Amino acid sequence: MYQLKTKLNTTSEKFLASVKQYEKLLDKFYSDIDRVLAGGSPKSVEKHKERGKLLVRDRINLLLDPNTPFLELSTLAANGQYKDQFLGAGIVTGIGVIEGHEAIIIANDATVKGGTYIRETIRKHVRAQEMAMQNHLPVVYLVDSGGVFLPEQSRVFPDKEDFGRLFYNQARMSAMGLHQISIVMGSCTAGGAYVPAMSDETIIVRGEGTIFIGGPPLVKAATGEEVSAEELGGAHVHTSISGVADHIAENDDHALEICRNLFQTIPLKEKYKLEKKRVENPVYAAEELYGIAPIDLKKSVDPREIIMRIVDGSRFHEFKRDYGTTLVTGFAYLMGYPVGILGNYGVFGSESAMKGAHFIELCQSRKIPILFLQNISGFIVGKKYEHEGLAKHGAKLIHAIANANVPKFTVIVGGSFGAGNYAMAGRAYDPNLLLIWPNSRISVMGGEQAAGVLTSVKLKQLKTKGKEPDDKEIQSIRKGILDQYEYESSAYYSTSRVWDDGIIDPAETRNIIAMAISMSLNKPIEDMKNGVFRM
Ligand code: COA
Repeated sequence: MYQLKTKLNTTSEKFLASVKQYEKLLDKFYSDIDRVLAGGSPKSVEKHKERGKLLVRDRINLLLDPNTPFLELSTLAANGQYKDQFLGAGIVTGIGVIEGHEAIIIANDATVKGGTYIRETIRKHVRAQEMAMQNHLPVVYLVDSGGVFLPEQSRVFPDKEDFGRLFYNQARMSAMGLHQISIVMGSCTAGGAYVPAMSDETIIVRGEGTIFIGGPPLVKAATGEEVSAEELGGAHVHTSISGVADHIAENDDHALEICRNLFQTIPLKEKYKLEKKRVENPVYAAEELYGIAPIDLKKSVDPREIIMRIVDGSRFHEFKRDYGTTLVTGFAYLMGYPVGILGNYGVFGSESAMKGAHFIELCQSRKIPILFLQNISGFIVGKKYEHEGLAKHGAKLIHAIANANVPKFTVIVGGSFGAGNYAMAGRAYDPNLLLIWPNSRISVMGGEQAAGVLTSVKLKQLKTKGKEPDDKEIQSIRKGILDQYEYESSAYYSTSRVWDDGIIDPAETRNIIAMAISMSLNKPIEDMKNGVFRM
């Protein structure tokens, strides 16, 4: 494979100024992360500890194999919403290693509003279950939750992807042969009681864990019966009388130890065998990505400059280098794993769309995972392009992405706009992991374009009503739209709503994608079945 050579002067003043500017973005990112890692209010954290309970991330640390990484997902979910009372959406989800098994962890943070579920909590929980299904991974639920956050009930209760989906997924996952273990370390009430009841095995902590469909206040209101939480559904009740739980633990540490012991009884899976090569570091430093990631999306970025900073030996075997040049495609190795990479270098046209579809078919036929580096403002517009059939060429790419059965990973490194988002494996295309860099922007079109379209629609409407807006009115319409797009297209807006699996530091991209490839190999790579390609 050919070793890529940078065309950038990474010691120039201009480059170093870009790095400095990016480091400011990272300061905000890490300070937001720190706020979430601190958990709920100091008062609720204190109350939690006084009960002898471990904080959620300490629980996870003890559950995982020592010195193995934990890839936390959507850490900044719900941030900037709900008056910031639901930092992290009150739940921690991620991928870690337990007794050698790659596993999904879904853990309530009881210090955040009693671990109750708002819309984003459910999205994180369901997304983590989806990842378990996509990658054939076992799941551990660390349960400590008051169930639905009742004031939000109309936004979390009845719809297909709402609270009920948690348990539907558990049943489907169980039927797929995915192991699910629950540790009840606190409250587990109403629908939430299904989580341990539907797991393969359940551990419950004495004096802390409770499981019931209706808690003591509800029982009192419904039947007049007075009963304590412990008597109604505590650890003794469920391990000795009801059989809803299987193992009793004396405290959090003990419960986590029992869970690790259970994992020793689960046979280790034979993973799909990709032909791995010896791992080599990239020739160029990952931190140089800070000077390359576009904060100003008008700045054009050659994706090769990104690729050479994340792949082994900075080596890249480029496919169709001189054809459809607004999309760069080729093969590389990442931590020893073969990977096919698609990176945008301008807008999509017919040639780049067809090249992308062809390349995805190559990856599929060789069963090589695909990495999409998204930095795309959309498809080229104009009569010439529509006449040459741009839509049908774009359709080929969409067919290929939607039906490819190899693991897919998407990293939004700059812009993610309109049909370009779809054509580069956006969320709707089920990538195994979708990550976003803090500088990125995502929306149906760029703010400038949207302001242009909407202002002209508005002006036409006003003119048919016989009104002739002056320049000041036109500017005010434009500004309103620009401001809205500026706010709604930020990476933070996206991640708060769980449209992605998390914002990442660009320098971590290589490590995270390697971990994601490893996790994806728990599922065999199947052949691809294509539909009708319009030629
Ligand atoms: N809906 C809305 N808010 C809830 C809630 C729920 N289901 N459960 C807890 N909360 C809120 C509390 O009002 C409190 O808010 P605050 O911090 O603004 O005061 C916060 O979560 C913590 O609750 P608190 O009772 O102080 O903490 P705790 O650790 O002593 O007890 C629970 C936690 C979950 C055991 C307890 O709050 C409880 O039993 N909640 C009701 C559970 C329920 O019946 N759920 C049915 C819904 S499906």
